[in-house]
Amino acid sequence: MLKRVKLVYYSGTGCTERVARCFEGSIRDLGSEVHVQSLSKNAMLVTAEYDMLVLLFAVHACNAPEVVYKWLDGLEHVKDKPAVVISVSGGGEVMPNTACRVTSINKLESKGYQVFYEQMLVMPSNWIVSTKPPLAKMLLNVLPQKIKIIVNDIEKGVFHRTTPYMIDRFFTRIGLIERLGARYFGKHIRFSDSCTGCGWCSSNCPAGNITLEDGRPKFSNKCHLCLKCIYGCPRKALKPGLIKFVIIKDGFDLNSIDKIELVEEVDVLHLTKGYLWSGVRKYLLD
Ligand SMILES: Cc1cc2nc3c(=O)[nH]c(=O)nc-3n(C[C@H](O)[C@H](O)[C@H](O)COP(=O)(O)O)c2cc1C
Repeated sequence: MLKRVKLVYYSGTGCTERVARCFEGSIRDLGSEVHVQSLSKNAMLVTAEYDMLVLLFAVHACNAPEVVYKWLDGLEHVKDKPAVVISVSGGGEVMPNTACRVTSINKLESKGYQVFYEQMLVMPSNWIVSTKPPLAKMLLNVLPQKIKIIVNDIEKGVFHRTTPYMIDRFFTRIGLIERLGARYFGKHIRFSDSCTGCGWCSSNCPAGNITLEDGRPKFSNKCHLCLKCIYGCPRKALKPGLIKFVIIKDGFDLNSIDKIELVEEVDVLHLTKGYLWSGVRKYLLD
């Protein structure tokens, strides 16, 4: 089943990239060949020569980010090639997220791919509300084991497709408004006096939305709202001018979560009280 695997991912703040690298390791451990590529501004991606495509994306407003849909629209046609779709979210497989893979799967199937496996993985949330530190660390700890199970399933050809809630199909439509918001958001990012014009933002923006002009960042209207520039700026000099509530005030940094030490057993039930965290609870206790 797994001979030559193509892994294509879209990540803003590094969670999906971490997932993709973990998949890569697990697939390699089986002795298979795997080629990993990120979906960013100038990526030239060839998938037809591979035996299987694995698509991974960060969930944005109950959808895949627009760049994923654009890439799928331009994808070459194949004949009955197996494919896997993995979504990575902060909230898990609960309402309103359950339909987030539907459009990507439909697009893949219209290109001749046979999507036989789909799954949601949960990583720390990078927008609006942060995942509590012990839970965030636990999510990173359980990742390799979760992926090993998925890779074993894929290797055996296990069929795993899910049925989204009807209401979530509606939410994915509403979520498309986020694209418009993203353009406004990106255009109105501000830089403070602490900006040194180092160019980190312009060279790391996956959308190609930031250029340096006279040693200062200039923002265009191509933003994906991935938040990489705001959280990743080495001087913390970037701030949104609009839609400020989406940013976690204390920032988001996967490397800091890595450094958290869990000294005692995490009380998952206690830390995941309320509907908002029910998907994380289900995921961690599964
Ligand atoms: C603009 C935006 C929209 C998001 N929408 C959702 C959502 O609808 N549901 C959810 O569970 N998480 C949502 N998230 C959280 C991310 O899916 C989650 O933190 C993911 O791990 C980020 O992956 P990345 O680091 O690869 O970008 C959103 C994040 C962003 C930036």
